Amino acid sequence: MRDRGVGRYPGGMSPADSQPIFITERLIVRPRTPADEAACLLMDGDPEVVRYVPTPWSDEAGHRAFLATRTAGPYPLGQGYWTITDRSDAFLGWVLLIPSDAIGPETEIGWRLPRAAWGKGYATEAARPVLRHAFETLGLDEVVADVLPGNAASMGVAAKLGLRLDQRKDVSPYIRFTQTAAGFRARAATS
Ligand SMILES: CC(C)(COP(=O)(O)OP(=O)(O)OC[C@H]1O[C@@H](n2cnc3c(N)ncnc32)[C@H](O)[C@@H]1OP(=O)(O)O)[C@@H](O)C(=O)NCCC(=O)NCCS
Repeated sequence: MRDRGVGRYPGGMSPADSQPIFITERLIVRPRTPADEAACLLMDGDPEVVRYVPTPWSDEAGHRAFLATRTAGPYPLGQGYWTITDRSDAFLGWVLLIPSDAIGPETEIGWRLPRAAWGKGYATEAARPVLRHAFETLGLDEVVADVLPGNAASMGVAAKLGLRLDQRKDVSPYIRFTQTAAGFRARAATS
């Protein structure tokens, strides 16, 4: 249902080789590489940043290994993590588009920014072209975002992107938001 026409990349390639770069009004949204992992580690060290994020790592070595695994994939072609920067290459977080929890079957969109970058509309600005890519280039049927209750900022991003509350499947403790390809096209036609 989710990967119409896309396969996995051959050996030797990484997710970054199949991910486009997006340039927005204020941001550069580019494929994550191992060189970005130190900034991710630093960002995740802020308890406010991970307040609504389940943390599967138990120590710094585990955390580093988790970051490396998530950067390396593999994921379906065109999916992965994108690093967000400003024009001076300052790290402003990431957006992901991968099988949910790296397993699937749904495709998940997600976002995480260092606290200093919150409240400026960056997450929405960075995620918008990634969502468009999911539907217009990859031809996905739907994209989900699973958010823990209380994470109003993340729900705000989902809502601004046009994702809607989806209660078809119990994903507790998360609340699921979904955008369908049809919904995306209808929204694009009216905006
Ligand atoms: C979630 C997160 C990425 C949002 O980043 P951001 O760049 O500040 O988001 P945006 O500015 O694009 O949009 C957030 C929207 O939610 C709203 N919002 C933010 N905090 C809010 C709150 N406490 N209550 C209600 N609305 C809130 C904002 O006002 C904004 O909407 P608006 O533009 O209509 O005013 C950022 O807070 C973050 O990295 N949090 C930690 C990691 C995380 O929780 N990731 C998501 C896991 S599901």
